[in-house]
Order: sequence, then C-alpha cells, then structure tokens
Amino acid sequence: MQTMIIAHRGASEQAPENTMPAFDLAWRMGSEGIETDVQLTKDNVPILIHDERINRTTNGRGYVKDYTYHELIQLDSGQWFNPSFSGTKIITLEQFLNWIKDKPLYLNIELKNNKIDYKGLELAVLELIAHYKVANRTTLSTFNPNSVNRLHKLNPTIDSALLLSKRKSSNLVQHAKALGANALHIKYRMLTPEIVEACRRESMALRVYTVNSSKHMLRCFQLGCTAIFTDIPDKALHFRKLYEDHH
Ligand code: G3P
Ligand code: CA
Repeated sequence: MQTMIIAHRGASEQAPENTMPAFDLAWRMGSEGIETDVQLTKDNVPILIHDERINRTTNGRGYVKDYTYHELIQLDSGQWFNPSFSGTKIITLEQFLNWIKDKPLYLNIELKNNKIDYKGLELAVLELIAHYKVANRTTLSTFNPNSVNRLHKLNPTIDSALLLSKRKSSNLVQHAKALGANALHIKYRMLTPEIVEACRRESMALRVYTVNSSKHMLRCFQLGCTAIFTDIPDKALHFRKLYEDHH
C-alpha cells in the first residue's frame, strides 16, 4: 500500500503555516492531502491557526477565543515567517473548504480543542464539511478523546482519528476504537511494527506526524503506514518515488 503524503499545515517549511500561500504551495508541489488546525473565535467562527494564542504566528497578542473574526483578520500572519509574506491574513475554515472543494485532495482537519474545549466546535466543523460536500474525503482528528466520541455520536459515518503524542495505554487501538475513531494519528517516535500490525488487524488507518527527515520517511514507507504528515511535501514525494523505484 502506498503511503499518502499530506502537507502538514500546508507546505509549512516554505510558507507560513495554515495560510493560503502554504496551502497553495502544497497543492502546486503535488501533495495528496492537506492537514490544518481549527480553533473558534469569540464569535464562534472556525478559523485556521495552530496555537490557542495568536502571539507566535501573528503580530497580535492574546487568545483566539478573546477576539472576533473581524478583529483577527486585521492581523498579519505572514510577516513573522518572512517579510516576503507580509499582508497574509488568517483564513476561516469556510474559505479553506471553498478553495479545496474542486481539488482532488484529502483533508485532515484537526480540532484544536485539547487545551480549550470550544463548545460547539464539532458541530460547526461537521456542518461546514457537509455543506462543501467534502465529508467523504475528510478525517477529523483531535487529541481530545471526549471530542472524538462527540464527533462519532454526532455523525457515526465520519472518519475520525485520535491523535497521540505519547503511548498512554497498552492498547491504543482498542482505546481509539471504543471512542468511535477509525484512525490513529501518532507522533513519529511512537511508530513500531507492533502498532502498525495492531492497526492493520482492526482495519484502522495509521497516519504519522510530523515526518520531515528522509530516515523517518523511509521507515513509514517500509512499515506501510497509511499516510505521513510532513512540512516538506515535495521532499516526501521525491523520497517515496526513490523508495518505490527500488522496491
Ligand atoms: O495532526 C498531526 C499533527 O499536526 C498534530 O500535532 O501540534 O502539529 O498540530 P500539531
Ligand atoms: Ca495539527
């Protein structure tokens, strides 16, 4: 099985993460999917930003939840990365879906609700992906196990993934399955042949983040992981081709 290449926050090594330039670059590089992070504004607009605070990736200060959408789009979210991206704006999940709807890309929308459990985030995201008719090629993921379960209850047919950065229980696959997930998204350090086998036995997809070195890419290809999330999709596509040409 070929390992899918998913651009992590877009092509985020070469453009500011979770912005239109990063998504557009990932698409032009030939990425097969895009991962992005969603949080809720004070007026309940799902927007794409990784951190709960705006400090690192914009010229503002404070929490996303304390600003309205209108206030947040006044900020610059490209300048921090490189002055050549100044003027780049935060975008909404809706703008992103409108852009991706006609492109044959897989989507992974990560609900960033493990630190702030935004009320209504699951429903807002489910409604948007239904409206844009992309639900059948989308996986919703979160580090918050309660949210995985809420997603499953709201829509039992949606693909959902439990995100993990550390091995917490001996039976991760059963734990995720019991919540209603049909995929595990794990940090690359957690990857073992045993996890791959356990997922395979339960027909769970296994996607690995964030895989940027050729050594770790190769390991994911050899173990037959479902997909990798990478900041450097062009490099991953190149390495996968080399790997396939020799196997
Ligand atoms: O969804 C995979 C990965 O993005 C999870 O970690 O911190 O990069 O959002 P993080
Ligand atoms: Ca993420």
